[in-house]
Amino acid sequence: MHRIIIEGGKELSGEVKISGSKNSAVALVPAAVLCDEEVTIANVPNISDIDALDEILSYLGAKVTRKNDVIKIDSSKIENKLIPENITKKLRASYYFMGALLSRFKKVEMYFPGGCSIGARPINLHLKGFEALGAKVKEDGNLFTITADHLKGAKINLDFASVGATINLMLAAVKADGITVISNAAKEPHIVNVATFLNNMGARISGAGTSEIKIIGVEHLHSSFHEVVPDYIETGTYMILASAIGKDMVISNIIPDHVESLISKLEEIGVSMEIGIDFIKISAPLKLKQTNIKTQVYPGFPTDLQQPISTLLTQAEGKSIINETIWENRFLNLHELNKMGATTETLTNSKAVIIGPTKLKGKTVKATDLRAGASLVIAGLIADGKTVIENADYILRGYENIIEKLTNIGAKIRLEEIK
Ligand code: EPU
Repeated sequence: MHRIIIEGGKELSGEVKISGSKNSAVALVPAAVLCDEEVTIANVPNISDIDALDEILSYLGAKVTRKNDVIKIDSSKIENKLIPENITKKLRASYYFMGALLSRFKKVEMYFPGGCSIGARPINLHLKGFEALGAKVKEDGNLFTITADHLKGAKINLDFASVGATINLMLAAVKADGITVISNAAKEPHIVNVATFLNNMGARISGAGTSEIKIIGVEHLHSSFHEVVPDYIETGTYMILASAIGKDMVISNIIPDHVESLISKLEEIGVSMEIGIDFIKISAPLKLKQTNIKTQVYPGFPTDLQQPISTLLTQAEGKSIINETIWENRFLNLHELNKMGATTETLTNSKAVIIGPTKLKGKTVKATDLRAGASLVIAGLIADGKTVIENADYILRGYENIIEKLTNIGAKIRLEEIK
């Protein structure tokens, strides 16, 4: 268990280099088991979610080697066995082993995945998709047994453009007989990243990044090399921080197109930015204006940046309204921000109001999930005095080297282990 301690109010300046995308890497790593040769993935972030996937792969008997940001996975000798529930529960993305192992062995037994408690997080769309491909799903409490004599391409329409279901169904369909079409597919950059990886391995996937993905099943996938796309949520988190307290802060190694919706919101509230090919330079303006945020699937405003931007809006003049449309439990950070002096009110599961600007004061607060944690780190860096963030392990799940990155730009921040 860890806590983060911040002495706030220091202007931040310098460069932050963005790491590979968590939500892409957590899908690419399980996808490696689709192939019985060694695959190499570079730009993999060093975060605890990847450690958990490494633990699953090693448990199944894969040979995993990690050096810096490169992971090599040889799953030629893996055994298809039940992963203990305590490992599956460490993260959400363990569910990608469902699609990947089903494709490879035509059978998978797995417990319900874990992950941040930001809503009910059902997996009905994944299961319905597996069934459309010809699998049988048996549910026994928390345990799912999915079997198929034969996986056959199908037309699958997702009720909601779910990131997880889109990726899991690509994994399951990649070696199915015939053609699969996923309509109302998610379009996030990590969907394209995963499809590119699979295509590099010999898959035939087209349309990733649009709402209709076509997969022509192939018999065999082979070894390949792949690079994780930059993390647009980490990018956005540092852009928001720079808008609050940055001076010529440069966020580099990014794809600016992926944060288009955030750029447009920041411009609206008075932040001016220099946008380069692979960097954005931001200084906090003297004044910020209120805005309204509605979270949407990509390319709309991402739910994963809703909590970080809420902290920024406590510094904006006027009343901002947040409409969270993806998750039912993503306002818990507001309660903690109020402890620090913010004026926010949660009206319903999906609607909250922030009235600013308010001065934030350092306090002891609790991270309730990964992005709530990011929201509190930003608050602690803005606030006067000392902020202690309990449950900081949530933050370490998704932000590589956050302490070092922030220290390098002038923050007074440290991580403390609680024994
Ligand atoms: N949904 C269903 N049934 C399903 C799947 C999803 O009803 O079978 C609903 C969910 O309840 C939710 C919505 O669809 O209301 C979106 O869920 P989605 O499947 O897109 O989310 P996810 O795959 O579980 C990923 C990221 C989340 C991110 C969301 C939305 C990973 C491991 N997680 O979750 O990331 O918020 O997409 O973009 O990729 C984070 O990084 O902090 C995080 C929570």
